[in-house]
Amino acid sequence: MTRTSGRPQTRYVCQSCGESFLRWEGQCRACSAWNSLVETQVSTTPRTVRSAATRGPITAGTMPVALADVGQPDQPRLAIGIAELDRVLGGGLVPGSLVLVGGEPGIGKSTLLLQAAAGIAARSGPLSVLYATGEESVAQVRLRAERLGLLDGPAAGIRILAESAVDRIAEIALAEPPALLVIDSVQTATIDDLDGPAGSVGQVRGAALRLMELAKPEGIAVVLVGHVTKDGSIAGPKTLEHLVDAVLTLEGERYAAIRLLRASKNRFGSTEEVGVFEMGERGLAELADPARAFLAEHDGPAPGSVIAPTLEGSRPLLVEVQALVAPGPGGTPRRTASGVDANRVALLVAVLARRAGIGLASHDIYVNLAGGLSVDEPGLDLPLALALASSLRDRPIRPGTVAIGEVGLLGELRSVAGVERRLREAARLGFDRAIVPRPVRSGPPIAVAGLEILAVGSLREAIEVAFSAGPAATSRGGGPAGSERGQSVAAGSARC
Ligand code: TYD
Ligand code: MG
Repeated sequence: MTRTSGRPQTRYVCQSCGESFLRWEGQCRACSAWNSLVETQVSTTPRTVRSAATRGPITAGTMPVALADVGQPDQPRLAIGIAELDRVLGGGLVPGSLVLVGGEPGIGKSTLLLQAAAGIAARSGPLSVLYATGEESVAQVRLRAERLGLLDGPAAGIRILAESAVDRIAEIALAEPPALLVIDSVQTATIDDLDGPAGSVGQVRGAALRLMELAKPEGIAVVLVGHVTKDGSIAGPKTLEHLVDAVLTLEGERYAAIRLLRASKNRFGSTEEVGVFEMGERGLAELADPARAFLAEHDGPAPGSVIAPTLEGSRPLLVEVQALVAPGPGGTPRRTASGVDANRVALLVAVLARRAGIGLASHDIYVNLAGGLSVDEPGLDLPLALALASSLRDRPIRPGTVAIGEVGLLGELRSVAGVERRLREAARLGFDRAIVPRPVRSGPPIAVAGLEILAVGSLREAIEVAFSAGPAATSRGGGPAGSERGQSVAAGSARC
């Protein structure tokens, strides 16, 4: 171990959680991962001093400033021109900010960033973008640009740099500062004074810090592409998320076309917004009607399928919950959940058995959300439970129905936020019946034009009404998506 003025220069950093230790140990004491500690050099310069010194044009130095005297940022946001991306960023990129775009390999990060680069180039000229690629050769980037049809426009002049050494990238960026610097990917970025391999926590964090020092004073928006590891964390786990100003995640199923872009952190905007894209022949395209993106198309009603009006931030998305239950061969039944919390499914199976007389204990259970979406909200309980019941009975629930609500351990239903907004969207898309929890507090019942609202108190009641035939069941053929809205059904609260 090298020492300078008695201070250790290296630490053993856990590659899994980022915790650092003075000595090597076989197991990380913080996260219990085995063999995850890697010797990493640490800088002896206190980080606060460095970053304060380089923080840019605020000339007051370390003197406090009255809140009202703090100037407005002089540079406006850089609108990219891809509305869904600008929306998630909160209105465009902020000059001098560091944004991390994470996602599984192959999901479309490089595609999104190249399209974003083209958007910036179209507005501010080709020199306004520097695209550093440590993963692919310049020829591969050109191929992608060709596929995206970008070679004829202003994007043709974007500077591509096949380089992973951050110091070299910074040198080139400083010579002619771009408005946007893309680092694809941060896992390949390296800084010279660290020994660790590219992609290790030390290198990733070191590279991000170095880039931050470049971004802030120069007013360059730096976008780091980061691969998400299997357990869902972006390499250099929490360490990077703390450093950057915004963390965006591109998700979806690799072999399905829909991609969702979410912000899990945003210092300059809301983390509520989601962007919806479709991966096509010419890259990521915005959808005309994102709300119906996750509705699978069926020729007719399908057992085990229930439509849930979910809410992603301020955007309602209708999602198809699919369940398949089949008698198990004996032994421990298989339980697979994708896009939803498996523990929640286990809990619903127990509640269905004890509170609604629907026994699934010995069945194999598969649960999935159509289109590769993942949703983490309690409102999905009721549609999940109904989908399980529908699959067990091999009976579709009445077409044109949506359901939303949280299920409690006693089989009682609880309401979720934004019910009216969700239901209005369902009505707009042609659904005509909604099963929702009965509001606890007395107040006006939920009413949405064109939607029959069945407000129920328990899971048992919800199952009864879900399978009851209604007037629309005979008058409607296939699924509701795209079909005419059902005959006028009185809006209001119906007792069941
Ligand atoms: P890519 O952006 O390379 O993913 P990442 O950088 O996240 O690893 O995209 C990879 C996938 O996207 C690849 O399987 C091909 C597909 N793709 C399209 O379907 N259409 C396109 O226009 C492009 C450029 C890629
Ligand atoms: Mg890539």
